[in-house]
Amino acid sequence: MAKQIIKIDVKAAKADIAKLKADVAAVGIFSDVRKNAFIDGLDARLGGAITRLKKIGDFKGAAGSNAFLYTHGKIAAERLLLIGLGEKQKAALDTFRQAASKAAFEAVNVKAKSLAVFLHNENAKIALEKLGQVIAEGIHFGGYRYDEFVTQQQNGRSNFLSAVVVDENMANVAKLNKGIKVGQIIGRAQNFARTLANRPANILYPAQFAAEARKVAASVPRLGCTILDEKKLARKKMGGILAVGQGSIHKPRMIILKYTPSGRKINKDAPLALVGKAITFDSGGISLKPAQDMHEMKMDMTGGAAVLMTMEVIARLKLPLEVYGIICAAENKPGGASFLPGDIITTFSGKTVEVLNTDAEGRLVLCDGLQQAKLLKCKTVIDLATLTGACIVALGTHKAGLFSNNEKLAQKLKTAAKDSGEPLWQLPYEPQYAEEIKGKIADLKNIGSKWGGACTGAAFLGEFTSGLVWAHLDIAPKMTASEPMKKYAQDGSIGFGVRLLSCFLMNEVI
Ligand code: BES
Ligand code: ZN
Ligand code: ZN
Repeated sequence: MAKQIIKIDVKAAKADIAKLKADVAAVGIFSDVRKNAFIDGLDARLGGAITRLKKIGDFKGAAGSNAFLYTHGKIAAERLLLIGLGEKQKAALDTFRQAASKAAFEAVNVKAKSLAVFLHNENAKIALEKLGQVIAEGIHFGGYRYDEFVTQQQNGRSNFLSAVVVDENMANVAKLNKGIKVGQIIGRAQNFARTLANRPANILYPAQFAAEARKVAASVPRLGCTILDEKKLARKKMGGILAVGQGSIHKPRMIILKYTPSGRKINKDAPLALVGKAITFDSGGISLKPAQDMHEMKMDMTGGAAVLMTMEVIARLKLPLEVYGIICAAENKPGGASFLPGDIITTFSGKTVEVLNTDAEGRLVLCDGLQQAKLLKCKTVIDLATLTGACIVALGTHKAGLFSNNEKLAQKLKTAAKDSGEPLWQLPYEPQYAEEIKGKIADLKNIGSKWGGACTGAAFLGEFTSGLVWAHLDIAPKMTASEPMKKYAQDGSIGFGVRLLSCFLMNEVI
């Protein structure tokens, strides 16, 4: 690979931000807090520059806004970056995560090597440990750049960003650092999920995805990795994933990761499974997609990337849960050997499917993954997939779709969505939709009617989940950065799902 992706490190330290040498010092300001000793002190040092900015209306502290001030030696940092936090009452975990993201995003834009942040001024509601975590997650999220194939240092960015979260109280620093440790693990994992998704399909095809999974598994304790290549898939009669992958020279792989905790296990005899769609390129196959934006389909493996990197998080955090990660990797391409509209395939479960559109391929690889989870005796199963364009039509790009056969699980995922800042919106999993995908000349059809494609996609998967407590996350709406997100993170993959699943699993163990 041409170049190392930017290395980011975050820690908390006891310091006065005005005295800390840094390329950028970022401070958070609420829009409705008039008097604040810290900000007023900073303003006085800068000869009233903050007050003046507010007066001329260039910066009012609105959430998502920011302003740079050049400090001319009046404080130790070269630049002061004001980050708007919005109204104090409305501040939640994600407010601070996004603010930290914005700080790092802007810092990397000005080619900074060092960043000092003080965003948690005036905060009383949120525990410092949690704040440390989300601030670290945010710094990793905003500082990330995908440029491993840019051969010249033409953009001149530093290959590292060293960030310090400051606090003047030593006890606070200790609490912040505890959270930062967790936030760094999650933030780094999420960024690697982004890198995998951003990698083009000529580099990251199923066998390469499997190789990356092996490397990830080898880098952490107690994470096993088994890879089923096309021969093994054939021996096991995994007809869904095989059909989707048969048109490509890059043969499919099923990647099965298993995390076994060393001591206490809270889900004894009922492991949990995360199942990810990893279509390394979805051309649509014989039901070819239009050329416009087709290149984005290199990211149709986002669900698989999120599963892989969540498994890494689980292992690094040593969660006392037995978890399987099942990744269904295939390339969907037209060619002499491709599967065809009208083909009837026999899936791993034994159920037969009439393929009416080869572009509805995600469900065909996932049904084999779900069956594999059943065979491994998993009880709770969550699948992640950039499954349907229809889900984007339904929700826009702001939330991913959530479907479940279990209200309790759905509720837990909604809670995790809120705290992780990876939003979900529940859509119906109901029998009417399943009626639409019942087959005439096979058990099932792989598409429903013209309407409600996200729901019929979920219903199709639901046919393979009897006996399971199951949720399906259609993350197509979150495959890339939404418009508002582009203000604090690079466009392209956002590694959606890593924070959400990590948060869900961490909540399971407290
Ligand atoms: N990978 C796509 C869904 C997708 C579209 C994800 C845009 C992210 C952005 C999926 O495999 C697909 O092509 N689905 C079809 C299903 C249809 C043929 C029933 C779709 O959504 O059009
Ligand atoms: Zn498709
Ligand atoms: Zn697809």
